Amino acid sequence: EKGGYAHFMLKEIFEQPRAIREATAARLQGGRVILQDLTMTEEEIRNIGRIIIIACGSSYHVGMVGKYNLERMLRRSVEVVLASEFRYSDPIVKRGDLVIAISQSGETLDTMAALREAKKRGARILSIVNVVGSSIARESDDVLYTWAGPEIAVATTKAYSTQMAVLNMLGLYFADILGTIDRQTYSEMVRDMQRVPEYIEKILESAESIHDIAREICKSEDVFFIGRNLDYALSLEGSLKLKEISYIHSEAYASGELKHGTISLIVDGTLVIALGTYGPLFDKALSNVVEVQARGAKVLALTTQTHAEEMGRHVPMVMTIPDIHEMLLPQLGVVPLQLLAYYIALERGCDIDKPRNLAKSVTVE
Ligand code: M6R
Repeated sequence: EKGGYAHFMLKEIFEQPRAIREATAARLQGGRVILQDLTMTEEEIRNIGRIIIIACGSSYHVGMVGKYNLERMLRRSVEVVLASEFRYSDPIVKRGDLVIAISQSGETLDTMAALREAKKRGARILSIVNVVGSSIARESDDVLYTWAGPEIAVATTKAYSTQMAVLNMLGLYFADILGTIDRQTYSEMVRDMQRVPEYIEKILESAESIHDIAREICKSEDVFFIGRNLDYALSLEGSLKLKEISYIHSEAYASGELKHGTISLIVDGTLVIALGTYGPLFDKALSNVVEVQARGAKVLALTTQTHAEEMGRHVPMVMTIPDIHEMLLPQLGVVPLQLLAYYIALERGCDIDKPRNLAKSVTVE
């Protein structure tokens, strides 16, 4: 059942190219996004009030990426709220607002409760769900399935990636109708989305080199992930993945926050995983690397091919991903972070598919 892989998590990491193809093939055709399963009319889309994304855990991290990307595509504010917070916040939502619920299992209790709260107040519910016919799917006005196939490992991988692909397609679809995206960006995004699976295949070919890095750093007991903008959103996921399966204490920080507290934790030998894939802010990523190194941090960096050489001049350990449209960088960047978490947990002898105290789907508060 594990298809020759040692763990479901590894199998599911390697299934990502196929899963993303499944999620996107029918929805990207002739250079356009076609969402046949969406029942919203163009007029309804033009009249959307607020847009709020609700989710938990990794699905919430997809929402964070979605916030950055949707705001860029739609030129309007998009909120992302943890479902467990939203449900008890007496939320300000009304008729005409769109609430996007993201959930792999479609059974997460907090997400379900937040959805019901929003629905009661008149919001329209669009969910991005993996499990067909699940509770969240059934209670939504619209469902965009992720078609990732069953996900067994507690740590989500292919569901995260396909949720992100679906949210990006939704953003493009809305932006096209709202006229908030230029032709060129639209076409480049569609073209590059179709390249994501083959680029992930390339990254997966270098899995063994990531295993080597994991052997070098697996003894660390504290890790700090840092990044800005999309790299910050990605750092949240990288950090969760690592801590959930390896039990290493790990935190994610927006790089700009370092001087507001975190940097006091950086001492000789502290491991910092610096995400510097986002081109427009690469120089800032680099200066943060130099800064933490000056305090003795041991840095592992993640960047794109374009910036690999420059990063390599400062940092001994660098993981590289192919260049792609900026908004799609987290689609690629998450893969080395998943592999890193996996191999570190493997080196530490952890129960990877069933980490202690965790359940695949959280149906209690
Ligand atoms: O099924 P859901 O997407 O609603 O689950 C949400 C979280 O419980 C889930 O993403 C969790 O954080 C994962 N174990 C992370 O790998």
